Amino acid sequence: MKYKVPFVNYPLQYRNLKTEIDSAVQSVLERGDLILRQDVEDFEKDLASFLGVKFAVGLDDGTNAIIFALKAAGVGPGDEVITVSHTFVASVASIVHCGATPVLIDVKEYDYLMDMDKLEKVITPKTKAVIPVHLNGRGCDMEKLMFIAKKHNLAVVEDTAQALGAKFKGKMIGSFGLASTYSFYPAKILGGVGDAGALATNDKEVYEQAILLRDHGQKTKTDIVCYGFTGRLDNLHAAILNVKFKRLPGWIERRREIAGIYQVGLSDLDQVGLPPAPDSDSRFFDVYQNYVLRAQERDELAQFLKENGVEILIKDPVALHHQKGLKLEKFKLPVSEKLAQEVISLPMYPELSNEQVRYAIDCVKRFYSNG
Ligand SMILES: Cc1ncc(COP(=O)(O)O)c(C=O)c1O
Repeated sequence: MKYKVPFVNYPLQYRNLKTEIDSAVQSVLERGDLILRQDVEDFEKDLASFLGVKFAVGLDDGTNAIIFALKAAGVGPGDEVITVSHTFVASVASIVHCGATPVLIDVKEYDYLMDMDKLEKVITPKTKAVIPVHLNGRGCDMEKLMFIAKKHNLAVVEDTAQALGAKFKGKMIGSFGLASTYSFYPAKILGGVGDAGALATNDKEVYEQAILLRDHGQKTKTDIVCYGFTGRLDNLHAAILNVKFKRLPGWIERRREIAGIYQVGLSDLDQVGLPPAPDSDSRFFDVYQNYVLRAQERDELAQFLKENGVEILIKDPVALHHQKGLKLEKFKLPVSEKLAQEVISLPMYPELSNEQVRYAIDCVKRFYSNG
């Protein structure tokens, strides 16, 4: 089915950038610069400078970025790492892949982010790190989190896969903790043409560890100093990301504009809960990776929207800790469980036209007015 308002529109973004992307690809192929060349270095420099941190490391995806950050923080078997259940599975999987034990806490009703009031209660002598997940383009309250983390000597790895460019109290999300991690999966704010990721840090040792881990622990071609992975950002991919990176500030502004249109259009509906509006709290600068509603009769609304040409996403109809194969059932997290039944993502990307956004709003309104 061809949607009037598709959930993503990769071809449209490519058409808008075609000349620059084609020329970047051609240049890389003609130079034969495929692995860890200038384009990766340029990307890393730009990312670090955008975030206001000392180092960035281009990686193959956002999951390895979290794994490398945790490993660089010394996380391993016997350690506990605290994060949330209301996130993409990779935030939790990364902990397990390090041999550590995930400890999950609940999120707030208001913005679906880690409830800092719950954090201190689950800290034990085994707790080594905490992963705040900046979900949907909004940063966590990093003041509260850093206060608690410092008090208990915990490493902070910020999962910033969904919040590149977000700020808390004017400071870039991703620049607070020991390290922060990014995903450039195509649907992300800065979307690649496949899988890609990065790690950012102010800590030289973490940086050096990440450089080793992404390239089989090879310090030089003849000196292998630890067991590593194939975790490098492809140079060709970096060249494409470099083209897109220049558009990022404009894209973020456009996402905030679209969030404002949704906000005005939907705020009089009692049946939906909206995410915080773009200017609702001056401490938070949200980049709206996703526009996520809490909706009464969520599944019926989803069906109605699809039938009317608005493509939506219900990412996690089952709370992560209720996914049988993950063996996390012991956690009781009422807000996360409720959100799994209520949340629905509407289309959100800079290429959407105002007409498409208004059409999506009208459809939501029509669903509820039909009773
Ligand atoms: C919150 C969060 N963390 C981690 C990841 C993992 O990133 P990747 O898919 O690039 O491995 C994602 C990707 O969607 C994510 O949304």
